[in-house]
Amino acid sequence: MKNRRLIDIILTAAVFIGLSAQVSSQVKGNAKEFEPVVGQSGKDVVWVPTPQILVDSMLRLAKVSKNDFLIDLGSGDGRTVITAAKMGVRAIGIEYNPDMVELSKRNAAEEGVADKTEFIVADLFKYDFTEATVVTMFLLTDINLRLRPQLLEMKPGTRIVSNTFSMMEWIADDTVTLDDEVSWNIAYLWIVPADVDGKWKLQEGGQLILVQKFQMLEGELTTPEGKRHSIEGKLNGNDIVFSAGDITYTGRVDGRKISGSSLKGSERRTWSAYR
Ligand SMILES: C[S@@+](CC[C@H](N)C(=O)[O-])C[C@H]1O[C@@H](n2cnc3c(N)ncnc32)[C@H](O)[C@@H]1O
Repeated sequence: MKNRRLIDIILTAAVFIGLSAQVSSQVKGNAKEFEPVVGQSGKDVVWVPTPQILVDSMLRLAKVSKNDFLIDLGSGDGRTVITAAKMGVRAIGIEYNPDMVELSKRNAAEEGVADKTEFIVADLFKYDFTEATVVTMFLLTDINLRLRPQLLEMKPGTRIVSNTFSMMEWIADDTVTLDDEVSWNIAYLWIVPADVDGKWKLQEGGQLILVQKFQMLEGELTTPEGKRHSIEGKLNGNDIVFSAGDITYTGRVDGRKISGSSLKGSERRTWSAYR
């Protein structure tokens, strides 16, 4: 079953890349008569819409709320932006194809969210999307990888959701997989981690060395008495958790300070570190 799914993905990806030349002639012409065709050419990736059921899952996975600002990179016919706007979220779509942008605006008007959405004709590689709190995309793995450094520079806690395509070594924080009958049925979520890599001084004495790979943490904690413990942990935005010996530390990163509590058996203490 897994192999069939893999073959499906490979075949669809081939269609994704290959159909573009054949159908590009169908998308030129009068914007009023414009009808998108699945597989039509796009600047860096062709248009294939995310099934609405996966759009809904992606927004749920990202836990979008009214306080969010969502940007869909390569917004196609606008469905993700429109769905978010209908949930009361401020949302904009970045799309290279002006015909798709006009179509998205018409779709938003039909859905009653014209005033809550914005669709911008732009190249996603040139658009500054750093203000977003949620970034959605259905692109390709190599495009995700080109965007990865910029995404990692975003505010800790920013959520990134991708239909089907991964970020390679930056493993997903969460995944949702729908039934096999849904043509594109996997969504990945990443939460931009705070940058904690390096040496920290513990308030109570001793030091903490954190070696960070994306959201994953390794390193070493040295107690005030000079005892060393290797550590393993994880970041969720600004929230940190790691274990050292038989103690579990949780905390919140605030720039050059981390503070929180540690738990050893049933004994809870506060701790902090700074650099
Ligand atoms: C696979 S579709 C996804 C559409 C939509 N996000 C969805 O999930 O239904 C990718 C979209 O990206 C657009 N696109 C391709 N390269 C782009 C670029 N460099 N800048 C902006 N949009 C681009 C294509 O025109 C296409 O509409």
